[in-house]
Amino acid sequence: MDNRPIGVYDSGFGGLSVWRELCRLLPNESIVYLGDGKNCPYGGRSREEITRFATESVERLVSEGVKMVVVGCNTATTASIATLRDIWRDMPIVGLEPAVKPACLTTQTKRIAVLATEHSLKSDMFLSTTARYAEGVEVLKVVGEKFVDIVEAGKEESVEAHDAVRKVVEPLLDSGIDKIVLGCTHYPFLRSHIEDIVAGRGIDIVDSGEAVARRVEWLLKRYKISARSDHRAEYRFISFADERYRLSLEQRAKSILDKLLIANY
Ligand code: DGL
Repeated sequence: MDNRPIGVYDSGFGGLSVWRELCRLLPNESIVYLGDGKNCPYGGRSREEITRFATESVERLVSEGVKMVVVGCNTATTASIATLRDIWRDMPIVGLEPAVKPACLTTQTKRIAVLATEHSLKSDMFLSTTARYAEGVEVLKVVGEKFVDIVEAGKEESVEAHDAVRKVVEPLLDSGIDKIVLGCTHYPFLRSHIEDIVAGRGIDIVDSGEAVARRVEWLLKRYKISARSDHRAEYRFISFADERYRLSLEQRAKSILDKLLIANY
């Protein structure tokens, strides 16, 4: 048993979509969430740069006393997961990559779309996963232009958000796809717009948040580091940006938690 927190890291607010699934599945686990904020967005940056940010972020989480790290960012995972695991060999580090495998295994039309950042879609990790699981499946690679900025600005309910999503998703409607993979943790916050636009077209939306939470649960058991069942979870939020950013992380997390509690009643 180990009541130390789990560390979750993202370039900004996106990893809160993973944090939400962790809170839901593992209510006794404390979590320290690090939203970089200062260097966000990562999507158009180089692998070296992102690896540097990711290493600094994990160092910070380790200094906060975490027992495990979840890289709640596809871009940081595709750039740096091997480096991070090489540095912190004794600590479990869970990465997130676009859920190409489940989408390829279940597509009926043999055509899927993956929405992700420019960096993720060009990464070696993405290319090798696609080569491995997408035999006979056509994978359309699409960058969610403006999606990250909209979520960072807290404008996910706006007309601007709907228009940006429409611009990206509408051209896919007649492409014969039956899956859209959300390959960036910011994108689930725009899910309702995507659902709206694909309604009635037989297209499923595939997100990896829940699967990652299950993987974390499995690893906690395997390493025997789960929190005690009577442990009261605490959630903390840190950032490399200013206090205002950190506070808005905290506020968003609180409203996510409120919605979860309402859903559980
Ligand atoms: N949330 C991140 C991801 O999952 C990336 C967003 C960004 O910083 O560009 O890829």
